[in-house]
Amino acid sequence: MQNNVLILDFGSQYTQLIARRVRELNIYCEIHPYNKLPDNLSDFKAVILSGSPFSVRGEDAPHPDLSEIRGKKPLLAVCYGAQYLAHFSGGEVAPSNTREYGRANLSFIKDGEGFFEGISLGSQVWMSHSDTIKSLPTGAVLLASTGDVENAAYKIENEETYAIQFHPEVYHSTDGKQLLDNFLIGIAKIQPDWTPNSFVDTTVAELKEKLGKDKVVLGLSGGVDSTVAAVLLHKAIGSNLHCIFVNNGLLRKNEFTSVLQQYEGMGLNVKGVDASARFLEALAGESDPEGKRKIIGRVFIEVFDDEANQIEDAKWLAQGTIYPDVIESVSVNGGPSATIKSHHNVGGLPDFMKLKVVEPLKMLFKDEVRRVGGSMGIDPELLGRHPFPGPGLAIRILGDITSEKVSILQEVDAIFINGLKENGLYNKVWQAGAILLPVQSVGVMGDERTYEKCVALRAVESTDGMTADWVNLPYEFLQKTSNEIINKVKGVNRVVYDISSKPPATIEWE
Ligand code: XMP
Repeated sequence: MQNNVLILDFGSQYTQLIARRVRELNIYCEIHPYNKLPDNLSDFKAVILSGSPFSVRGEDAPHPDLSEIRGKKPLLAVCYGAQYLAHFSGGEVAPSNTREYGRANLSFIKDGEGFFEGISLGSQVWMSHSDTIKSLPTGAVLLASTGDVENAAYKIENEETYAIQFHPEVYHSTDGKQLLDNFLIGIAKIQPDWTPNSFVDTTVAELKEKLGKDKVVLGLSGGVDSTVAAVLLHKAIGSNLHCIFVNNGLLRKNEFTSVLQQYEGMGLNVKGVDASARFLEALAGESDPEGKRKIIGRVFIEVFDDEANQIEDAKWLAQGTIYPDVIESVSVNGGPSATIKSHHNVGGLPDFMKLKVVEPLKMLFKDEVRRVGGSMGIDPELLGRHPFPGPGLAIRILGDITSEKVSILQEVDAIFINGLKENGLYNKVWQAGAILLPVQSVGVMGDERTYEKCVALRAVESTDGMTADWVNLPYEFLQKTSNEIINKVKGVNRVVYDISSKPPATIEWE
């Protein structure tokens, strides 16, 4: 990959945001932990040091070896990075007397060879640190101050080394993106040529080289990540990509057939496997949410393994892993990767897990996956789909699962989701669905008294599913949807709308 930027992570909560901002400039970057420099360090054109929850004066604080970087490549040190350079190169870092959190404004700026170009005095920056740089390191010149922080930015003379105490990556630093642009494009002279199209071209070429004539197996879920991964691989190796799409009987109404047709229409070599009966049989009588998840996970592996074994000489398993999962597993704080590996070495694994793994999206964020999918002509409707849990409707039917309950919930869910689409609300909602409650209530229909099921509707706003709030859907829409559900779905006589936020509630009910 050309024009790479290396972000060395010291464990800051904002490190991923730095990567996002750099990529928004159409520049490719990778995050690596500070204590494990990449083998291909020479390929990186510039380096950014992240912030950190540590104090440079602490015993356990990260102490990176920068001997191959400093003075040899353009270097931007953010927050902890700036303090680290100061502390170990002749400056002084000490606890600050005043709180240095939140908004501040630049009260002094010296241009510093274009570092602050286009940024004016008074520009708002975001501070988040408890130590402060009392004196600059040897050979440094001051570039900026704020009201409370004198040494807010500096440059080391005769080096392309810049350091800032504030966080350019957070939205509240209003000129943060301009500053990154000045450093990466102006000073480090990096070409902003990383776009979805260039990603597709490079990745397809790399996949061709790596996979040759090998056969690859991929499990499609109907979701964005596995679909985009499949289309990329298909571009590279055509029908040597064998996709498997399993119907666990817990998908949305008509989902299996319509998504399968859509995949076939895209030219993918896909096999639809209807294992509904097998899943429902295995789930019979199970009411515990985690019990249901375990059963579905186990049966999926069995079904997938049977199918993958029918593909002779398959060498690879493709997965739609995306960058946030990877960052988590290699993070400074230690992700789960080590345990997963030791587990996998124990043996007794399903056959498909013994295949080599290829993950073409593992360096992309979710919105980048969508843009890459768009640039390859994937239907925007498919790319804009709400997230849907792997165990599907099983965790939206509270209590035990029967095929009758699945059918009822599929009908209710379809009315709700189609209604959102028809009323222009679908794209305003992050995730929506219906829940079948283990509750029966009394109603009247015509002259008759009924005693039937109750469903809850849930629609939430969120960015990542970690926190969420219920959506204020228009009353007229809720009224229309409720009428339609009660009139059309036999067995349901009551509809409620869930107005709980996460936390303390979760998005799913199980
Ligand atoms: P909660 O209910 O934890 O959900 O607020 C957060 C997000 O995760 C999805 N979810 C799951 N996805 N397997 C999945 O693949 C699961 O077991 C599962 N449980 C919850 C949920 O739909 C929401 O998007």
